[in-house]
Amino acid sequence: MCGIIGIASTKSVSSNIVESLKKLEYRGYDSSGIATIDDNGINEKKCTGRVENLEKILFKTPSNGKVGVGHVRWATHGAPSKVNAHPHSSEQVSVVHNGIIENSSLLKEDLEKKGYKFKSQTDTEVITFLITEFLKDFDLVKAINKTLSKLKGSFALGIIFKKYADTVIGARKGSPLAVGYGHGENYLGSDSYALKSMTNKITYLDDGDICLLNNNKVEFYNSNNKKINKEVLTLSNDENTEDKGDYKDFMSKEINEQSITVKTCIKEYIDETRKDINLYNFPIKPNEIKKIVLVGCGTAYHSCIAAKYWFEELTTIPIETDVASEFRYRTIQFDKKNLYVFVSQSGETADTFAALDLCKKNNVKTCSVINVVESSIARLTDFVLPIHAGPEIGVASTKAFIGQMLVLYILAIKISDSRSEISKSDYTKKIIELKKLPDLISKTLKCEDKIQVIAKDFVNSKGVIFLGRGSSFPIALEGALKLKELSYVHAEGYPAGEMKHGPLALIEEGLPVIVLAPSDRYFVKTISNMQEVIARGAKVLLVTNTNNDVNSENIRFILTVPKSDPFFSPFLLTIPLQLLAYHVAKLKGCDIDKPRNLAKSVTVE
Ligand code: F6R
Repeated sequence: MCGIIGIASTKSVSSNIVESLKKLEYRGYDSSGIATIDDNGINEKKCTGRVENLEKILFKTPSNGKVGVGHVRWATHGAPSKVNAHPHSSEQVSVVHNGIIENSSLLKEDLEKKGYKFKSQTDTEVITFLITEFLKDFDLVKAINKTLSKLKGSFALGIIFKKYADTVIGARKGSPLAVGYGHGENYLGSDSYALKSMTNKITYLDDGDICLLNNNKVEFYNSNNKKINKEVLTLSNDENTEDKGDYKDFMSKEINEQSITVKTCIKEYIDETRKDINLYNFPIKPNEIKKIVLVGCGTAYHSCIAAKYWFEELTTIPIETDVASEFRYRTIQFDKKNLYVFVSQSGETADTFAALDLCKKNNVKTCSVINVVESSIARLTDFVLPIHAGPEIGVASTKAFIGQMLVLYILAIKISDSRSEISKSDYTKKIIELKKLPDLISKTLKCEDKIQVIAKDFVNSKGVIFLGRGSSFPIALEGALKLKELSYVHAEGYPAGEMKHGPLALIEEGLPVIVLAPSDRYFVKTISNMQEVIARGAKVLLVTNTNNDVNSENIRFILTVPKSDPFFSPFLLTIPLQLLAYHVAKLKGCDIDKPRNLAKSVTVE
């Protein structure tokens, strides 16, 4: 979380810093700030709220300076306020920080004894004062490395100096940071996305690296103050995804483009002529896989649960799923014959990265299902399966979820075929069937008008329950997550069969319950569970793909998605739930693309 930008240029940098901060707002948006070096030294400006507030301040009182750093914050230590906003500056040094300094209280005590006066409640100010202190005795790189050696936790830093007025320094341990190369200027950014409008030449810092930039050169140093060389990568020029087009917000654009992103992804994986799935150099022979462990957070974790059902149907491989924040602290018996799969849209999620790191340290085979292919998780795994969804800007994940499920489904079919657990004809049929998915998604998206009506009926509810069985269960979880994060309505997803074991007590007259019941082997059971909640007064929205065998009496709404291959139900059931969360949030006047308290990329634990 938090976004960092730094620019060293031959011209004034503040407007470019602000433009880059707008792109970084998906990482945090409770406050923002900028510091530049001008003739009087460090010039710091910060404010609460969105970057547009900072822009207004800069419009009234412009900041000059050819070197500067900027920051968007997602509060960890200290409430979102002007004083806690970054940068944090002394007379000599100004620092922007992403991450958490775990030993900040101890460091603060020492620094206070030396006479430093702290203004904020953040953990970042200790970094500012440590650098200020070490600069009294050491040159620039040594002073930074001395400071870094004192810090426990994870961080990415951007730093500017009164004395070294043409220089921006970046440092990384645990939180991503990239350098971009321009003409007459060089950049520092939390990710390549923030830098993409300025350059497509970038270098990623590794843990322990320091970079030193000015307008005409970039140097890298390791923790022993030795100069090191680093690879310069050329980023692909993706489609112009920053444009909302005719949509009011990125989320509605991203929901509506799902049939296109699915089509693109299918094209990337399916060999049309051979009717086969392209998957070369997979890190482990499918026949030798003893177990598959699927790990992710939030929405990405829900895609792992959906995949569990597919792998279990299509292969004989035992499957385990876990949320990364639990996995990373478990006492796990790692096995070299297992495959560990990490699912992440951003590829920067701190818990998922730490879980992957644990696997790497145990020398087991890893693979990632990723949207941002240049990300830290993608770079650390043995094998990357991109979801080809294009940048997802809305904080609530939509097209990435569909993309994650799609790639995991494709992987399940391929592994099943490679292990000869599916007949050749069934394998070919599944591939042919896959090509129908984009069209089925387009058709499902047509339910938006109906959803708008349902949203009006649900908007004042205090809580909503989502029920599903089998592969509809993770979709119930995902539907509940979307509703709570976007509209701040309490929502819970349950396996429909669990209701009797407690949650049924919540049902009262008029409580909305969304029942996911495609025509599959669970259908009859789920419909019985639906009747049980109706009998207790629930207001039910049934999402199904069959009009048969349902007594529509007492069901408030029935929404029918297209009939399809049973494996596609999770994809099609997801869409009305995304739209419902969207429209309830819209009716409540919530910020669709930037829900409160959240950030797109969760780079702290
Ligand atoms: C919910 C959402 C989050 C993310 C989670 C993992 O809409 O977006 O739950 O899915 O923070 O993020 P990634 O996929 O970037 O690892």
